[in-house]
Amino acid sequence: MTDPRPAAVVVLAAGEGTRMKSATTPKVLHPLCGRTMLGHVVAAARGLDPEHLVVVVGHAREQVTAHLAEVDPAARAVVQEQQNGTGHAVRVALEALPDLTGTVVVVPGDAPLLTAATLAELVRVHELAGAATTLLTARLPDPTGYGRVVRNGGSVSAVVEHKDADDATRAIDEVATSVYAFDAAALMTSLQSLTTDNAQGEEYLTDVVGLHKAAGRTVTAHIAVVPEETMGVNDRVQLSEARRLLRDRVVADHQRAGVTVVDPLTTWIDVDVTLAPDVTVHPGCQLHGRTTVAAGAVVGPDTTLTDTEVGEHAVVLKSHCTGVVVGAGADVGPYTYLRPGTRLGARSKAGAFVEIKASEVGEGSKVPHLSYVGDATIGAGSNVGAATVFVNYDGRDKHRTTVGDGVRIGSDTMLVAPVEIGDGAYTAAGSVITKDVPAGALGVGRAQQRNIEGWVSRRRPTDQPDDQGKQQP
Ligand code: UD1
Ligand code: CA
Repeated sequence: MTDPRPAAVVVLAAGEGTRMKSATTPKVLHPLCGRTMLGHVVAAARGLDPEHLVVVVGHAREQVTAHLAEVDPAARAVVQEQQNGTGHAVRVALEALPDLTGTVVVVPGDAPLLTAATLAELVRVHELAGAATTLLTARLPDPTGYGRVVRNGGSVSAVVEHKDADDATRAIDEVATSVYAFDAAALMTSLQSLTTDNAQGEEYLTDVVGLHKAAGRTVTAHIAVVPEETMGVNDRVQLSEARRLLRDRVVADHQRAGVTVVDPLTTWIDVDVTLAPDVTVHPGCQLHGRTTVAAGAVVGPDTTLTDTEVGEHAVVLKSHCTGVVVGAGADVGPYTYLRPGTRLGARSKAGAFVEIKASEVGEGSKVPHLSYVGDATIGAGSNVGAATVFVNYDGRDKHRTTVGDGVRIGSDTMLVAPVEIGDGAYTAAGSVITKDVPAGALGVGRAQQRNIEGWVSRRRPTDQPDDQGKQQP
């Protein structure tokens, strides 16, 4: 059976999220595992392939709408001018979708762990029952704060908000998750009858349950199989809890697909990261954005990769890379900082305390120690000696350096850009290279050494060669 396609999904995202106590970020735009809360919810909603995907915005609407346009351009933002409650928010959404028939799914914007599979299951249960309302509920060990599901002889009779509940009702551990499937026409009718006669003075969506019940319509509940999925995030403690749960889910999915994650507790992988089977991720890694790691590669320990592509059997150890391509079999780290636009060729090396920016390092070329490479093209099979600096900035403009194939850059060379080093050329250690070095030549750019005979006995007559070591502090 193919999954039924709902007429609409309405995502509620107009609230301010006062409990987050943020001056800059609306609640639904707080990030976890590579997406905002809203990004996760919209992705799950999109998984149902609804005819309409509507997000109700209000607080910080420009910011939220702009973000929505980035993550799901086909979704539509509908403005709820005043945040008069979840029921009012749904009414505003439906008024923007006249003549809607069929199933409407409502999802809160602060439930980032929800999956499309759970939403699809809810729709299936709802349509099979021919219900007016189907609630997604969850049994939680600590239901504090949530609306409680009141049952009468097994069937749901009402949802009572925590703030409106008496002690007996608060003892109920089955909660409303703010996820529903509704019949569009029945929903619209009940939304007209909501009152603000409650502890928060708001139009509660939860009251639709009691209204449908009173009207003799079918109300069913679907208890979430994985209760954590329904978790709502109201403050930053819950945000970190949700992040931890999502981290566990993402890591477990990769492990089941053949990735070795040595320490899930210290490994953070964004949802859009791709890892091939037989990748190994050591403790203390963060893999962000659109990072991809090919088969047999080893990442970590203590490595952060953002939007980085790691080739087969490459090793990236204790390093920080953003916007980088690491070729197959390449060797990076430890303590290596690779910045956007860096492309390391196959079997190349960027070693300890090396920083590279917007540069290409050719196949098999090596930058093994303590160097800065900026705005450069390095050919194949070249070696850049320790402590070399590609001097790319003249204080006003950036310039490029080109190094050919099979070049040997001596240790502590300053390559003052723009400059070009031809194939097979050498530079002498300690050189400041300001002019091009032709292919096959040795570039020397340093003062000649001279030795002053007898200087020590003339200028330091009391020095005894044997005492010198002892005089050191
Ligand atoms: C809500 C439910 C509660 C449920 C819980 C699950 C109601 C009245 N309460 O409580 O039964 O247990 O979710 O997490 O529905 N929003 C709007 N416009 C508004 C008000 C809220 O768009 O006028 C949005 C918020 O941005 C948020 C969502 O609706 O994304 C839920 O609102 P929130 O204030 O978090 O409700 P809870 O108190 O968590
Ligand atoms: Ca909430």
